[in-house]
Amino acid sequence: MRTPLIAANWKMNPAPAGALGTSSPYRTHAAVDVIVFPSFLDLKECLAAKLIAGPQFASPEEPGAHTGDVSMTMIKTLGCRYVLCGHSERRADHGETDADVAAQVIAALERGMHPVVCVGESQEQRKAGKEKSVVKKQLAGLPLESDITIAYEPVWAIGTGKTATPADAQEMHAYIRSLLPENRRNGTRILYGGSMKPENAEELLKQPDIDGGLVGGASLKPDDFGKIVEIAAAMQK
Ligand code: PGA
Repeated sequence: MRTPLIAANWKMNPAPAGALGTSSPYRTHAAVDVIVFPSFLDLKECLAAKLIAGPQFASPEEPGAHTGDVSMTMIKTLGCRYVLCGHSERRADHGETDADVAAQVIAALERGMHPVVCVGESQEQRKAGKEKSVVKKQLAGLPLESDITIAYEPVWAIGTGKTATPADAQEMHAYIRSLLPENRRNGTRILYGGSMKPENAEELLKQPDIDGGLVGGASLKPDDFGKIVEIAAAMQK
């Protein structure tokens, strides 16, 4: 039994109105784990409001001379338990490589944090039939025997309104699960990300190897996000 996890990736946006209030849909639910990934600016306020919040990136380096970065150690000290690693926008905008992402994941684990690691292929890679080999390579350097969460986010589905079909997503999720070591095969949660919204969440979350969602655009709309959480709650596997 894997408890569903629905995570909000607010990207470079302010916290949605009402997100910090008592009836916020971003609060953890009895049947569904809910996490928010705000910008660094909003992190402290989210934690103070008792949301489960983590950063969208943290540097594996120790605090020191790294202008513009925030270290995993500082994030841990702030009280975060979760951290997003290797989002495709970080890979594209900041040139993060698989090795960089692995270093972040290891640094998070060493500090007792839980990384949510993103993988996924581009449109060209899928067209060329390379989606599985791309994802396999992205996973290769990660400590898959550890307690981490994986988010499969096909790059072509992120923020585009295009979603992987439930069957294609399930196929990839099952493939990712097959690559996990035996000790983690049943326990590791694998989230789907890429234009998840209330209209498609049920079909996606119904798939046996899809354990939740990493939600971008729809996570900025509290009502839509709340609906996705309720759909996940109603679908307990
Ligand atoms: P999207 O973003 O839901 O807007 O496609 C998902 C993500 O980038 O994590």
